[in-house]
Amino acid sequence: MKTRVCIIGGGPSGLLLSQLLHRRGIANVVLERQSRDYVLARIRAGVLERGFTNLMREAGCGERMDREGEIHDGFFIAHEGRLDRLDLHKYSGGSSVLVYGQTEVTRDLYEARDQMGGVVFHEVEDVQLHDLKTAAPIVTFCRGGEAQRVECDFVVGADGFHGVSRKAIPKDVLREYEKVYPFGWLGVLSRTAPVSPELIYARHERGFALCSLRSRVLSRYYLQVPGSDKAEDWPDDAFWAELARRLPAEVAQRLQTGPSIEKSIAPLRSYVAEPMRHGALFLAGDAAHIVPPTGAKGLNSAASDIHYLYHGLLDHYERNDPSGLDGYSEKALARVWKAQRFSWLMTSMLHTFPDAPAFDRRLQQTDLAYYLSSDAGQRTLAENYVGLPY
Ligand code: FAD
Ligand code: PHB
Repeated sequence: MKTRVCIIGGGPSGLLLSQLLHRRGIANVVLERQSRDYVLARIRAGVLERGFTNLMREAGCGERMDREGEIHDGFFIAHEGRLDRLDLHKYSGGSSVLVYGQTEVTRDLYEARDQMGGVVFHEVEDVQLHDLKTAAPIVTFCRGGEAQRVECDFVVGADGFHGVSRKAIPKDVLREYEKVYPFGWLGVLSRTAPVSPELIYARHERGFALCSLRSRVLSRYYLQVPGSDKAEDWPDDAFWAELARRLPAEVAQRLQTGPSIEKSIAPLRSYVAEPMRHGALFLAGDAAHIVPPTGAKGLNSAASDIHYLYHGLLDHYERNDPSGLDGYSEKALARVWKAQRFSWLMTSMLHTFPDAPAFDRRLQQTDLAYYLSSDAGQRTLAENYVGLPY
């Protein structure tokens, strides 16, 4: 089979790029290892920056998002038993974020791909990338026991952290930067009214907690847990009891509990791979970088990669101008590193680090108190949370 762009990975990055390109007449195929049901069962991000929502609208996929998503002008930080509100709207110069689940984003993108007759191959195995240093790369894979190949101009590696694309970059070319945290996030989705209409990020000596939501009747909560814990170690009752302990009393009193619909543990990691281009291969999203979720920057960083890559490909195909693709890695990485910095800052200020000396713990408290009491500090948090410009 021949196409212009072969996209590996049918997560949000791959689907969004596929949809944007197709609307501009640029042929592409998407290769996804899992079934569609599996992809749509994953519960992940919930907070979308304006750059992301604009791309969804440009892709013709913004209608349900705009109807059902909730605009959030602020969030709370709980610490020392009290609640401080960060006014995103005020301190970012009028911006906000949209709460709309990644699951819904992915569903909308799949529906749009179906409507346009986009080609997405599911349950592909043994994806391999060939001839990346030529102008005619090839991707081979197996589907339903049959060997297949795609001849294309470009390959996009949007296959997440555990995908194969990044591994196709030779070891002497790839530079990797990594920080692994000694804890994870235990997440619970429950059909209960959220404890707060706005997100609450809670710093507590027993560990961090986050109260988030998907709608007025669907709550998403997280607890910091040791890296060695398994979701099975946490029956629902234990989860709710621990969450209540980590929240200020006035909030804990309002907490509605119920059976979990989903429960999983995500490890926390900061990771960047450089460069994000190798010949005809372009990496995008989690395939190239991972952030701890504390700053809500993972999916949003994937979106900024897609923005740069989409425009680079338009420059190439519509104007015969290579500069967008040539500058892709540098531009994408400049923004990725800023998202890394913010995610690290939020993670370090809000989590309990098991071996931190008392001095460091007092500095951590002071850091948070400073950011929340100073205008400059609140501006810094707000402009990063709503998303730095592309
Ligand atoms: P993925 O979603 O990982 O998609 C990659 C796809 O490639 C997958 O479907 C996978 O099956 C497929 N694939 C893998 N290997 C292969 C292969 N060999 N061949 C073919 N296909 C393959 N981000 C935010 O911005 N805001 C948040 O609030 C937020 N909260 C989060 C909360 C949690 C608990 C977690 C875990 C993450 C959160 N994130 C958040 C991060 C966000 O979910 C990711 O950054 C996002 O999923 C990245 O999208 P992607 O398409 O690049 O990668
Ligand atoms: C979520 O709702 O899943 C969520 C929200 C904010 C974060 C991380 C996750 O920082």
